[in-house]
Amino acid sequence: MRQRVVKPAAGIMLAQHCQYHKPARLDSFKKLSNVDIEHFKSIVPAETVLATAAVGGTADAIELEGFNADWLNKYRGNSQLVLKPKTTKEVSEILKYCNEQRIAVVPQGGNTGLVGGSVPVHDEVVLSLRNMNRVRSYDEVSGVLVCDAGCVLEELDNYVAERGHIMPLDLGAKGSCHIGGNVATNAGGIRFLRYGSLHGSVLGLEVVLPDGTILDNLSTLRKDNTGYDLKQLFIGSEGTLGVITGVSVLTPRRPSAVNVAVLGVPSYENVQQAFKRARQRCGEILSAYEFWDSNCMRAVLHHQSLKSPLEAEYPFYVLVETSGSEKNHDDEKLTALLEELLEEGIVEDGALAQDDTQISRMWMMREGIPESLGKTGPTYKYDVSIPIPVLYDVVKDIAQRLEKVDLYKPGQSSGPVKLVCGYGHIGDSNLHLNVVAEKFEDRVTDVFEPYVYEWVASHRGSISAEHGVGLMKRDYLGYSKSPEMISYMKRIKDVFDPHHILNPYKVV
Ligand code: FAD
Ligand code: MLT
Ligand code: ZN
Repeated sequence: MRQRVVKPAAGIMLAQHCQYHKPARLDSFKKLSNVDIEHFKSIVPAETVLATAAVGGTADAIELEGFNADWLNKYRGNSQLVLKPKTTKEVSEILKYCNEQRIAVVPQGGNTGLVGGSVPVHDEVVLSLRNMNRVRSYDEVSGVLVCDAGCVLEELDNYVAERGHIMPLDLGAKGSCHIGGNVATNAGGIRFLRYGSLHGSVLGLEVVLPDGTILDNLSTLRKDNTGYDLKQLFIGSEGTLGVITGVSVLTPRRPSAVNVAVLGVPSYENVQQAFKRARQRCGEILSAYEFWDSNCMRAVLHHQSLKSPLEAEYPFYVLVETSGSEKNHDDEKLTALLEELLEEGIVEDGALAQDDTQISRMWMMREGIPESLGKTGPTYKYDVSIPIPVLYDVVKDIAQRLEKVDLYKPGQSSGPVKLVCGYGHIGDSNLHLNVVAEKFEDRVTDVFEPYVYEWVASHRGSISAEHGVGLMKRDYLGYSKSPEMISYMKRIKDVFDPHHILNPYKVV
């Protein structure tokens, strides 16, 4: 089991929040009163209603803090009411009332989202799914899991592991994020290379629409060609079309043999060559190919109690994982790959994990990067898809731009910008470009926004590979979607949520 995700240095960074464009509150939304709180108490158990004195409740504002601030401590709302329903029917009654009364609502899962989508912008009601956390059924023959949306991903993975299966997705936030949040963001993560997108693994959804209608599409079928596949619209809709309350997901057999190696690589060109070779040599057993640069490695080694498995420092690091069913066969394949890469000088050093503890430490090194950067300072995060050959160029480009205007001095950890670094799921063409600053400030942001989006668009990439749009990228959607597509997205929003009460100010 990996470490639970903790928020980095919350106390220090709270003062830094709010350096982002906050749209004005829409007057069309009702302001809550005592009457609304009393109504909510009549439809859900009183202990699941967390309301402050400002709206006639008794909770302390501090109790709502964790629901109002995001994981990065960058985005912050001012909600005075959190509702934590226990059943789909309760969710339906809440939404029906909110829709009639024009009360704005933010659905919230584990609150690990990184684009400001999971927290209110102003005083929207937070609808937390955390009390909906039951496994509904599990079919050991087909591997189909049906569960509530508020189940924590890691707990589900443990549940299916006991039955010889694996969740088709995994991410550093697994100890906190919910399966409903994963579906709502169409999360990618480190198993994407092997098991693909949730658009393929999710077989059915139960969704409550803003008017309270329960769309029961909780199918367990792999094949169902009866017209439009409505569930696909909710996968990646980031809480703007409906509230996901149930999920049916296909869980593959858990591989019995897992191998992991960390490689020290002299150049980005060689990271690509090694990937090509890994695919050639390992074929179907290659299950992850992740990379990070030396700046990430230094941050991880500084902030986590981990030791590098390699002797020296390298410009790039790669984590290769194989997953199969024949231990000896997989060992041979990965060892042969490593020998070949070393002999040809494609990699300069490599370490093969000898047991589960070493496997877990190597993964912690990769998965500990976001937390370590957060502990270094307030972090600007860009999650982009770019063709692999030019993927790392944008990191170098942004670093040079910041250097040119004297905001960044590589190798010096002080100054307005402390670190520019890149890591990510290179096997999926997905880069995480991060800029760690002293504080969020316009003179820094202006250097790379919207430049970074222009850069990505000029390479026909995507401004959001896996984290979503949320509030952060709402105004930049046009870099990845045409006006016609955005117009149809807005029309779809109007169909499901005509009064726009669900997650307002986000996505479109
Ligand atoms: P939240 O953060 O609570 O919400 C995210 C969005 O989904 C919001 O817009 C919210 O309104 C909506 N939402 C949540 N639940 C529901 C629901 N039941 N119905 C409707 N809408 C809902 N992401 C990746 O894709 N890949 C990674 O590798 C990855 N690694 C991460 C590592 C760390 C350390 C952290 C902090 C985050 C990482 N993320 C990653 C981002 C984040 O964990 C994912 O986006 C995750 O899927 C969010 O799930 P959540 O339950 O925390 O959702
Ligand atoms: C990751 O791959 O580590 C996540 O997507 C989180 C991040 O981008 O920091
Ligand atoms: Zn990622």
